Amino acid sequence: MINLQQVRADFPILEQRVNGEPLVYFDNAATSQTPVSVLDAMRNYYLTENANVHRGVHTLAERATEHYERVRQQVANFIHAASADEIVFTRSTTESLNLVARGLGDQILQPGDEIVISIMEHHSNLVPWQEVAKRTGAVLKYIELNDHQELDLQSAQEQITPQTKIVAVAAASNVLGTVNPVKQLGKLAHAAHAWFVVDAAQFVGHHPLDVQEWDADLVAFSGHKMYGPTGIGVLYVREQLHDLLRPVQFGGEMVETVTREQTTFKKAPLGFEAGTPDISGVVGLGAAITYLQTIGWESIEHQERVLVNYLLPQIKAIDHVTMYGPQDHHTGVFAFNVRGVHPHDVATALDLAGVAVRAGHHCAQPLMSTLGVTATARASLAFYNTKAECDQFINALTAVKEFFINGIS
Ligand SMILES: Cc1ncc(COP(=O)(O)O)c(C=O)c1O
Repeated sequence: MINLQQVRADFPILEQRVNGEPLVYFDNAATSQTPVSVLDAMRNYYLTENANVHRGVHTLAERATEHYERVRQQVANFIHAASADEIVFTRSTTESLNLVARGLGDQILQPGDEIVISIMEHHSNLVPWQEVAKRTGAVLKYIELNDHQELDLQSAQEQITPQTKIVAVAAASNVLGTVNPVKQLGKLAHAAHAWFVVDAAQFVGHHPLDVQEWDADLVAFSGHKMYGPTGIGVLYVREQLHDLLRPVQFGGEMVETVTREQTTFKKAPLGFEAGTPDISGVVGLGAAITYLQTIGWESIEHQERVLVNYLLPQIKAIDHVTMYGPQDHHTGVFAFNVRGVHPHDVATALDLAGVAVRAGHHCAQPLMSTLGVTATARASLAFYNTKAECDQFINALTAVKEFFINGIS
């Protein structure tokens, strides 16, 4: 399976000490680390190919354009899109979802129409819908959690009605450690003749993604959560939507003809990529996909499963620690609290032991109130993490708990 020594050599950032301890990077749900091959690809782009895309006829411009469009095809293959024209490059998941909310929501929603999302959504798949609901008079509805703190399909069935025009859900939660039943949700959405939008930010770096198997109409994700650079994202736009989705940014590159009075726009994908794009980010994203494919999904999923099976019972076994999400099966995302201790204090104490976790509301405040908390700590894994790192984390968390609860240091 995975050769961890070899894999970790690809991520030099992991080989450092923080506060005198070996760094344990357990904040992968916020951003994953970047392998040397991605950095090399971006550096090489700037050293040998840098030029603006789709504009020049000179050799460097052609090289840059060819590389940029090659990655578009690579992304299409990676997520099983029917064509490269269905891949729009954006800045992030957030930008992708804002484009959908404005470019689709503003076009189709009438007063009384419904947008259905889940209560576990990240703010970037929630606030844009609140805003579009305000602009159009549409109603925003929530799919609730079941008793295991997973998405409740029964609630989805109740919330999605003939008035529903858009269903938008996360494929995997950034808090609960769950993977949602995307295919079933897609079926419910399409049975109601609603468009089906998937936020794949927490899914894309951990599992193979097949937009056709999901039967998704729009899918958003970010490069920096799949071992690529920050600043690059993707919006998959199914071909049937190309004429309906309206651009929301206007300017260079995305136009066909401009007169004093009016403008005609290019078709997808270029019609949605106004201005100079993040070309080196696209190059880096392509290198990240190549890297993931070199490691292989089987190895990645296996290693993450091994770590989850190792860590989950140990977190649960620490008294005074509450873990959120399902208690029996989990992705590599663990939100938890030490009872009576603020999660920021927990995260700060863990940092002193070299362990990087996140604390806060995780951009999911409605979920936090549903869970009855204002914030949690969160440890999140990647395939380059090790059992030894899990041990260091558990030892540190146990010590933190002892210190705050029993006053033992
Ligand atoms: C589920 C989910 N959706 C969307 C986002 C937003 O991603 P970005 O900040 O890259 O736009 C995140 C980031 O944590 C996320 O976890």
